[in-house]
Amino acid sequence: MSTRTSVTVRVPAKVNVQLAVGAARPDGFHDLANVFLAVSLFDEVTATPADSLTVSCEGPDADHVPLDRTNLAARAAELLAARHGIAPSVHLHIAKNIPVAGGMAGGSADGAAALLACDALWGLDTPRAELLDICAALGSDVPFSLVGGAALGTGRGELLTPVASGTFHWVFAVADGGLSTPAVFREFDRLAAAEGTPIPEPEASPALLSALASGDPDTLAATLANDLQPAALSLRPQLADTLAAGLDSGALAALVSGSGPTTAFLVRDPESALKVAAVLDASGTCRTTRVAAAPAPGATVLP
Ligand code: C5P
Repeated sequence: MSTRTSVTVRVPAKVNVQLAVGAARPDGFHDLANVFLAVSLFDEVTATPADSLTVSCEGPDADHVPLDRTNLAARAAELLAARHGIAPSVHLHIAKNIPVAGGMAGGSADGAAALLACDALWGLDTPRAELLDICAALGSDVPFSLVGGAALGTGRGELLTPVASGTFHWVFAVADGGLSTPAVFREFDRLAAAEGTPIPEPEASPALLSALASGDPDTLAATLANDLQPAALSLRPQLADTLAAGLDSGALAALVSGSGPTTAFLVRDPESALKVAAVLDASGTCRTTRVAAAPAPGATVLP
C-alpha cells in the first residue's frame, strides 16, 4: 500500500469536433465516429483515505453534482477496489470547473480522475489497459478523459485511436440547466424515424482529420459536424440564438458540444477568444462563458 496521504488528479473537458451517429443498436447505444478533442478546462479530484466511500464537491455548479454512488467518481473507486479485492475506503473531493450535464464529459472526467487518484493513493499500479477497461465500463466517454489529447472514438465511443492535432482556441457558452444525454439520443432516434431515411454508418471525415492535423482553424471550421445538434436544438431551441450570437461576434464556426447544451465556438487566436466571449456574455443568450485551448493532456496526477 502507498504511504501517500492524498492524491490530486487534474482532468480535462472535451469537445467533439466530429460526432457522427449511427442507428440505435440492440443494446440501446449508438455506434459513433467520435473525434474527441480535450480542452484546457479542468476538474480536479482529490482522493484522501477515509473510513468509507464519500464524495464532496465545490465550484459554481456544485449543487447539481450528485454526491451518492451515482457519481462516476464514486463508481470508479468502487470498481477499482472490487477488482483488487479491497474496500473503497476513500473520500473523493471534486473541484468542479467543467459545466455539469453540459455535453463536455464533466462526469466522465471525474470518473477517470477518481480512478487514477485511487490507483495512486492505494499504490495499485494497475496496468493502463486495465484502467481503460474500467473506464469503458463506467461510460462511453470515460476512456477519452483518461487519455486526453485528440482521438477518434468508435464503437459507442470507447474504442480510441489517437489522432494528430495542431493547437486550436475555443470559447464555450454555458447554458442554464443541463440536457440529459439519453434524452438527446432518444430525440435523435425520433427525428431520424420521422425523416424516414436510413441512417448511414458513422465514419470519421478524412477532411476533418486532416484539418485537425494541420492546425489551421479556417479549414477545421469548415469541417466541424455534430449529428446530435438537431436533436439538442429540438429539445432546447434557444441554443440557436447562442450559436448565432457567437457567429455574429466573429467566431469561425459554432456547434453544440456533444449532446449539449454547452455551445462551442472555434476562434482564430486567444485575442478573438476573449472578444467572442465578451460578446456572448453580453448577449443574454447564455449563463456564462469559458475560454480554452486544445488539445489538453488527459487525466494527470499532480505533484
Ligand atoms: O456511456 P454513457 O453512460 O455515458 O451513455 C449515456 C447514455 O447516452 C446511454 O445510456 C445512451 O442512452 C446514450 N448513448 C448512446 N450511444 C452512445 C453513447 C451514449 O446512445 N454511443
